[in-house]
Formats: sequence, C-alpha cells, structure tokens
Amino acid sequence: MSSPPGVFFLRCLVIVALASHAEGEMYTSLQNVKQAINVERKLIEYLRTYIDSELERLEDIKRFYAKVSDLHTILYKGPAAATANPLVAFTLIKRLHSEWLNVIHSNEAQENIQTLRSKYQEEEADLPKVEDLRGAAKGLMRLQDVYSLQVSSLVKGRFQRITNGGVIDVCSPAVSVSLSGDDCFLVGKVAYEQEDYYHSVQWLEESVRLFRGAGGQWSPENEGTLEDALDHLAFSHFKTGNVSYALSLSHELLHHDPMNGRVLQNVEKYEKLLGSAGPSRECSLRRPSSSYLRTRDTYERLCLTKGSQDQ
Ligand SMILES: *[C@@H]1O[C@H](CO)[C@@H](O)[C@H](O)[C@H]1NC(C)=O
Repeated sequence: MSSPPGVFFLRCLVIVALASHAEGEMYTSLQNVKQAINVERKLIEYLRTYIDSELERLEDIKRFYAKVSDLHTILYKGPAAATANPLVAFTLIKRLHSEWLNVIHSNEAQENIQTLRSKYQEEEADLPKVEDLRGAAKGLMRLQDVYSLQVSSLVKGRFQRITNGGVIDVCSPAVSVSLSGDDCFLVGKVAYEQEDYYHSVQWLEESVRLFRGAGGQWSPENEGTLEDALDHLAFSHFKTGNVSYALSLSHELLHHDPMNGRVLQNVEKYEKLLGSAGPSRECSLRRPSSSYLRTRDTYERLCLTKGSQDQ
C-alpha cells in the first residue's frame, strides 16, 4: 500500500509533534486527535443552543425597549392630554414599579450560561489537560528544531525551511490552519516558563506581530493580549542580551499601559544597563540543549529514513 507523496511525511510530523515522553500522554496518537474532534463537535452544538437562547433573550428585551421608547416618541410628546389620561398614568407607574425591575433583574442570562457550563462539565473528562497543551506546544517547537522550520511559515500553516538562501517546503499539508497571536503567545509562554528564550523570542515575535495586526480587537477566547506578549518578549530579549530591543518593546508596552510600575522599573534598569555597557555586546540566539531536544537526532534519522523508504 503506497500513500500519496507527502502523506507519510505529514504523519511523521504529527508523531514528532505529539510524542512527548513525560507529558501529554493523552495526545500521543492520532486516535486521540480524532476523539478530541468528536468532543469539540458536541461543544459546537451546545454553543449553538446557547447562542440561540441568548438571541431569543435579547429579542425579548429589544421588544420591551421598542415598546417603551415608542411611547416616549409618540404618545408622551403629543398633546398634554396624554398625561391626564388615567390609563397612561397607570401603565407608566406599573412599568416603573415592576416591568423595568423584571427586565433588569432577569435571571435568564445566568440560566443560559449555566446550561452551557453544565453541558461543558459533562465533557470535561474528555478534554485535554494543561499538560496535554504544554506537551503539544513543546511538540511544535521540537518539530521546528528537527526540520529547521521557520516559525514565520508555521504561523501561516506552512512547513518551510531556508536552504541555500531559498525557502523550501518540507511538506505541503492538504489542509492548512494558520495560527493566531494568542496561539503563538501560548507556545512562546511555554518556552518562556522553561527559560528557553531561544524559542520564546521567536514565537513571541510572531505573537506580537499578529496581535498588533489585529489592532487590539478583543476576543473572548484569548488568554493573552498584545501587552502580555510584549511583556514576555521584552524580558526574553533582555535575557538573551538584546537590551536595546527589550527597552524599545517596554516603551511600546508603556504606551498601552503607562502606569505599569514593574515595566517602568524595567525601563529604568534597561536604560542604566545601556548607559553603562557602552556599545551593545554581540548576542545571537542559539538553540538550547533542553531535554525535549535531546532526541532530535533520533527523530530526524527515523523520519528521514522511513520517509524515503515510503516514497
Ligand atoms: C535585537 O532584536 C531585534 C529584533 O529581533 C534584532 O533586529 C536586532 O538585530 C537584535 N539586536 C542584537 C544586538 O542582537
């Protein structure tokens, strides 16, 4: 049985990315990815129901709003006789005493979100754990190293590396997903937390670029913001010795968050360092030899030889 070219290779990429030794045991096979897709399918259904209920709720509120505002544009602006009408007086007093209260203190929004949350809780056992997420992020970085992939390409859903000055595709997946600023932030943060600034700089650079491009638009699903990414990126650059860049990123951060005392302190520290250090010392990003990279050569050998046999 021969797979179409590239399919084996892609499968190999997934295995390199997902296989992690101590962590993320749940996501060590493609089977797990299929299960995860099924869980998400259920979540989509629950969210659809939630959105429908919320839309209905808002429609009801809009009806009340239209009713009352119409009274004010039509009836109450008319001849003074309207205010002398006892039915007008009665309905006005009733509205102010109880209708507004019922609308404003309605529990419907809570009930809707509560239904959604309990549905989500039912699926909780099948949802990935934080170790799975960290494992998957480390898997991406392992993949990046094993195939010398460019982070800027990965972000666009492409598996590319620079060879002899030209960009070549390591493989061309049939389906492609691009990453968001928040996706890159998460990978960068996993690296950052391990003090692996070689990777955190690259992923956070992409994160900052994408968050800047999104123009500060808020998304409910995001964990990070442009400020968070700038903060982590500035510190990563500082740790790799690029103090001048750490300083300029901190200035950008202060532009968004001028009262951040910690960042103000960092700026002072960076300025002092730059003032006393003279010309900036040479620094280059080198791949660290952290434990999750130790198996690099094994993976490389395995995938490259098996890949060429398969084709
Ligand atoms: C600092 O980082 C910036 C952005 O990545 C880079 O353009 C610059 O060359 C770096 N400077 C040094 C001294 O490494």
